[in-house]
Amino acid sequence: MPRGLLGTEDLTREEIQAILDRARDFRPGEGQRFQKFDILRGRMVVNLFFEASTRTRTSFEIAARRLGADAVSITASASSVSKGESLVDTLNTLAAMRPDAIIMRHAASGAPHFLQRHLETPIINAGDGTHEHPTQALLDARTILDRGASLEGLRVAIIGDIAHSRVARSNVYLLSKFGADIVLCGPPSLLPKELAQLAPGVTLTNNMDEAIRDAAVIMMLRVQLERQHEASFPASEYFQFYGLRLEHLRLASPEVIVMHPGPINRGREISSEVADSQRSVILNQVENGISVRMAVLERVLAEQGNHGVSAH
Ligand code: NCD
Repeated sequence: MPRGLLGTEDLTREEIQAILDRARDFRPGEGQRFQKFDILRGRMVVNLFFEASTRTRTSFEIAARRLGADAVSITASASSVSKGESLVDTLNTLAAMRPDAIIMRHAASGAPHFLQRHLETPIINAGDGTHEHPTQALLDARTILDRGASLEGLRVAIIGDIAHSRVARSNVYLLSKFGADIVLCGPPSLLPKELAQLAPGVTLTNNMDEAIRDAAVIMMLRVQLERQHEASFPASEYFQFYGLRLEHLRLASPEVIVMHPGPINRGREISSEVADSQRSVILNQVENGISVRMAVLERVLAEQGNHGVSAH
């Protein structure tokens, strides 16, 4: 099976560390512009998104171009998927155009894993249902490490709609491999008890103050209304119990950082004062998304070797 990137659960600590270290090489210096590299010249990646995305799709596209590759983006609503083509047929059609990797986002958990078994082209998972979003967890880890913190023993509170969050799962798998102390917090209906078994070092609470006490990292999650079939909370009630406000930060470590994968809903899971505060690293996460995805693309495409026809 070709080696794409399907999840952080499958990665070893060494592989993760290598990607995070490499991402640092790709980052521009303070006040500098992103440099363009030649590493993947002549290669092509296809972005195939069956779900909405701003950050992830754009940053994969920018990452590919910064490495000298060509990037083509396809949105499902504008493709033959809307004409009833099956997923396997769509992927086979794309694969026949010989891209070096397919980056895909899909509403079904496990969709990229299923397709990878049928396809020679490596697949990079950009989010599959409620399952995994590996590059988000990698860029989150890069952002935490940039603050000088070690992940070992670090108290990380992940708060919100855990049940439907692929960001939470990928972060739990990654952070637990490095010995972080992870607290998952949300209302009972969005925090199934089985999640305590996801990985070593995970505890659950429905109490926001308890989750935040002494936390070095607070990771807020959006309520994923598109994945909820049950009646949801009124926004104001949710915010009262699980919305992050300035007064919460006093309970956390004085150096605490506040993260959010975006898109943020101000006044629903996070107040504007917190989102725009000095403690927020939300835009650093977005920025790190590019260099981390460059490191991922380099790793996946370098594996493929240079099997194109030589131009010389
Ligand atoms: C997340 C996603 O799509 O899983 N967003 C992202 O990739 N930055 C989280 C979300 O949609 O809430």
